[in-house]
Amino acid sequence: MCGIVGYIGNKQAQPILLQGLRRLEYRGYDSAGLALWHDQCISRVRAVGKIERLAKKLKDQEIPGSMGIAHTRWATHGGVTEQNAHPHMALQGTLMLAHNGIIENYREIREKLGKDVSLTSETDSEVLAHLIGTHYNGDLRHAVMAALKHVRGTYGLVVMHVDHPDCIIGARMGSPLVVGVGEEEYFIASDATPILPYTKRVVYLDDGEIVELTREGIQTFTLADEVITKCVEEIEWDDEQAQKQGFDHFMLKEIHDQPQVFEDAIRGRLDMEEGTAHLGGLNMTEEEMRRVNRIILIACGTASYAGMVGKYAFERLSGIPTEVDVASEFRYRDPIIDENTLVFAISQSGETADTLAAIREAKRKGAFVRGIVNVVGSTIARETDGGTYIHAGPELAVASTKAYTNMVAVLLLYALQFGRSRRMTIATGQRFVRALQEIPQKMQMILDRKDTIFAIAEKYKDIPSCFFLGRGVNYVVALEGSLKLKEITYIHSEAYPGGEMKHGPIALLSPTFPVFAVMTKNQLYEKMRSNVEEIRARKAPLILVVTDGDDSAKEFTDDIMYVPPTMELLEPLLNTISLQLLAYYMAVSLDRDVDRPRNLAKSVTVE
Ligand code: AGP
Repeated sequence: MCGIVGYIGNKQAQPILLQGLRRLEYRGYDSAGLALWHDQCISRVRAVGKIERLAKKLKDQEIPGSMGIAHTRWATHGGVTEQNAHPHMALQGTLMLAHNGIIENYREIREKLGKDVSLTSETDSEVLAHLIGTHYNGDLRHAVMAALKHVRGTYGLVVMHVDHPDCIIGARMGSPLVVGVGEEEYFIASDATPILPYTKRVVYLDDGEIVELTREGIQTFTLADEVITKCVEEIEWDDEQAQKQGFDHFMLKEIHDQPQVFEDAIRGRLDMEEGTAHLGGLNMTEEEMRRVNRIILIACGTASYAGMVGKYAFERLSGIPTEVDVASEFRYRDPIIDENTLVFAISQSGETADTLAAIREAKRKGAFVRGIVNVVGSTIARETDGGTYIHAGPELAVASTKAYTNMVAVLLLYALQFGRSRRMTIATGQRFVRALQEIPQKMQMILDRKDTIFAIAEKYKDIPSCFFLGRGVNYVVALEGSLKLKEITYIHSEAYPGGEMKHGPIALLSPTFPVFAVMTKNQLYEKMRSNVEEIRARKAPLILVVTDGDDSAKEFTDDIMYVPPTMELLEPLLNTISLQLLAYYMAVSLDRDVDRPRNLAKSVTVE
């Protein structure tokens, strides 16, 4: 997704803006630009491609000035060209705008602007810049407010004007903006990562809010120009945490973060004595919890796979019928929802437009709507009526790893809490609590086996295609393993329930079509063994994830990833890590851009 950075203060703005854009690279982009106010004028430089190309252009023309805005663009309207890169200008270059989001009625606005406004780009954002320009009569904030009254769509935008050397205006509707409050310097960005090196004090804008940054401070307003007071929050992440800490890629660091951040997710939430979990953020009375007769888990991508594990857990532990909905489908299938339905929105970024749209629909229909989110203060966290932060820390690699296992952790805690408020016995609850407490060291055991996984990755890195198989919760492991492989190696793969192979996909098997199968010791082990034998009979290469001590697996294959035993519902917390490492090492061997894979964005803030 696009990224925005703005700065006003007492330092040279250019290096701060450039560094800020680099910190937003993980969001995915294809061009970048910045604009700086200096000597009674505004200079703009833009470039297609990576930030370094913009930096190179700037090397030849260092621009002074202590106020500016910058942008990374992920093309939605118009091709990847320098003309389409932000910031966009209006009023003969005296007004500059950078915009994230989609102006849905930009054609209508374009018509109204008339012929005397000539556009230099194909973007909806430039139309927005000109619309603000038509309302400008010396007061920048009011020009922005007046223009936005005519806009339908989403925006996170920053605007500056040559007449106002001490003012940046920001506005937010559907695309996040965070303001950083430093010492006599102020920042505005799409998320906190560009701000962290300078200050941990932030203000999160909400939809329909405008902010005015000056050298004296910030002031927030409604779109109707009413002054509003926002609290300054302290970010718990420090800058160091957001860096790679010695790993080659953010993704490898985040895979290795999992034991620690899993501990963070369960800390203070488990009750061994009662064999239950306590998640205060649920914000529901015992009576309301008892009234819940259906649970819907809404998410996208990897987060939806966490939801699938949650489905097994809620139904097995609490007996509450639970369904998982891909957010982009949910609102269009006319979901049956009432006041006894509990909807969880699961999201790492808390900004995924499909998920956000789905929860707004669920709220309209009267459900309890709660969030399971990583980014503190994100839109989904603030638009749900409670929920739980997963405490995975900053996840900067596009391919989600630690956020996934922490989403599963929180869903298991909720299932335990609901289970113990219904039919689950204290003894079963205590066994579950103990099994959860053992997970971090078992995760570490898998990470310590990475050399074996590296060797398997090297062996299979050149395959054109493959299957991932599993049964029960390990079918979800197969889905997530398949997505990880696709995302970062660009190798085609599909995941199937083990029992499905004989219903068609087995036709594809051959000595050059490998299958990764999860065959761990649980109630479905024998079933999975017979599926594995079907595969061996077709002479397809077979790579197995099996439980420590299961030496019989060697009869089937010599490529085995061993995992420690645990309760069946907790297996995704462990088995998935083997497949995360497999995908990572294959991608590195293939020299892929592991942290920023092609075509992908970390936070998909458009529908
Ligand atoms: C995960 O590896 C993917 N990058 C993607 O599927 C992601 O899980 C999905 O876009 C949802 O993002 P969210 O958790 O931030 O809502």
